Parts: sequence; C-alpha cells; structure tokens
Amino acid sequence: MPKCFALTLKSLVTRYAQLIGVLYDDITLEQLKKNKKVKTVMVEIFIVLFFLIFFPALYTKAPIYLSNFEAINQLKTFLPSDQDFKFLDAGCGTGRVLKALSSEFPKGSFEGIELSPLLALFATLLTWRSQNVRVKLGTLFTHQLKNYDYIYAFLSPVAHAMLYEYLEKLGFQGTLVLNSFPLDKIAHDLKIEGKQTLFLYKLNFTDKDLRLPEKKG
Ligand SMILES: C[S@@+](CC[C@H](N)C(=O)[O-])C[C@H]1O[C@@H](n2cnc3c(N)ncnc32)[C@H](O)[C@@H]1O
Repeated sequence: MPKCFALTLKSLVTRYAQLIGVLYDDITLEQLKKNKKVKTVMVEIFIVLFFLIFFPALYTKAPIYLSNFEAINQLKTFLPSDQDFKFLDAGCGTGRVLKALSSEFPKGSFEGIELSPLLALFATLLTWRSQNVRVKLGTLFTHQLKNYDYIYAFLSPVAHAMLYEYLEKLGFQGTLVLNSFPLDKIAHDLKIEGKQTLFLYKLNFTDKDLRLPEKKG
C-alpha cells in the first residue's frame, strides 16, 4: 500500500475514533454542534457518503430515486407466478424492488446490479435472507444481460436509450420494463399509468424487431 495512502487512512481512522469517543462522552447535541472538530468530521462523512452514493451514477446520469410501491405493485401484475423466470433490476439502488418481488414470486430468480458501492451493500443487506436474490456491484453495461426474461430499469432517458442499444447488440430476447422514461426509438407494447408510469417492450433481437418507430408529437 503506498505510504501516503496508509497515512491518510490512519489519520481518518484516528479522527473517527475521536468522534466516537466524543459521542460516548455524554455531551448534548448543542455542545456537539459547537465542537469544530466534530463539524469537520461530519462534513467529511457527508462528502464521503455523497461520493459513494451519487458519484458513480453521474456516469449514466441516473442518481438514486426509488420506485414507489404503486410501481412495484404494477410489476407484480405481469410476472408469472406459476413458472421460473429470471428478473434483473438494472441499477437496483437500495434493493427494495428485489425484496418486494422476491417474496411474492418464489419461482423467480432475482438479480440486481448496482454501480454505487454503498447502495450495493445496502441492497445486499436488505435482501440477505431472500434465497432467490443476488446483488452484484458493477455497471450494467458490462453485465451479461442476455440471460434474463425481464429487465427492469428506472434510470434516465439517456441511460434507457443506451440500455436499449446494448440489448440490441447482445441479441436480447425478453421483456424490458422502463419506469418513467420511455424510449424514443420504438413504440412500447404496454403502458401502465401511475405516479410513476411503466413502459413495457417485448423485445426479440434474435429476429429482427419489426415494430414501427415511436411517433413524435
Ligand atoms: C433511479 S435509481 C432506481 C433504483 C431502483 N431500481 C428502484 O427502482 O428503486 C437508479 C439506480 O441506478 C444506479 N445506476 C446508475 N447507473 C448505473 C449503471 N451504469 N450500472 C449500474 N447501476 C447504475 C444508481 O446508482 C441508482 O441507484
């Protein structure tokens, strides 16, 4: 390990150890707020958390914003309860979609891929006890997406267009479900309206996709 990195790590550990010492020292919140060292440490923690959570997502301009329960319930309406299937939450955030769906669809196999290390850790812990869930850390654009029956994404218009092109290249055959941001390129097969509207695309890139482009305006 490079020396400067080891020293930075050592000083950070010392700082946080000091903070824990202060917290155990039975002082009031007001006293805590006035303490300059504590303030600096709080700002440091905030910056570290901010970078761990948001910075990775700037890559695809898709920061953390969770699917609401209405959208999750809508997802349940078209997943099969009587057969095996593979479902991917592409950019799974805190893992709440995986957690909610996996308990209701024991025959389904649920995976999440997440770019932010902190969120990936959170999702892993949240779904720890669910046998049919797996969370991976990484970017969905290097992930093998071809093997899923359903891919769910709630990212951004840019990221959804990139995802579609990536699926096309891979020869994906299955259902793509996009939350809130439909594709410009092609028409959806089904639209489920709500506070967060879902757009379903039944894709088959092994045959040529013969659907007409989406009409604008
Ligand atoms: C809007 S949130 C959706 C979270 C979750 N799918 C849900 O619906 O509650 C988008 C998530 O995608 C993650 N993300 C953005 N770009 C990604 C990428 N290229 N690969 C994997 N995850 C990504 C972000 O870190 C963020 O947690």
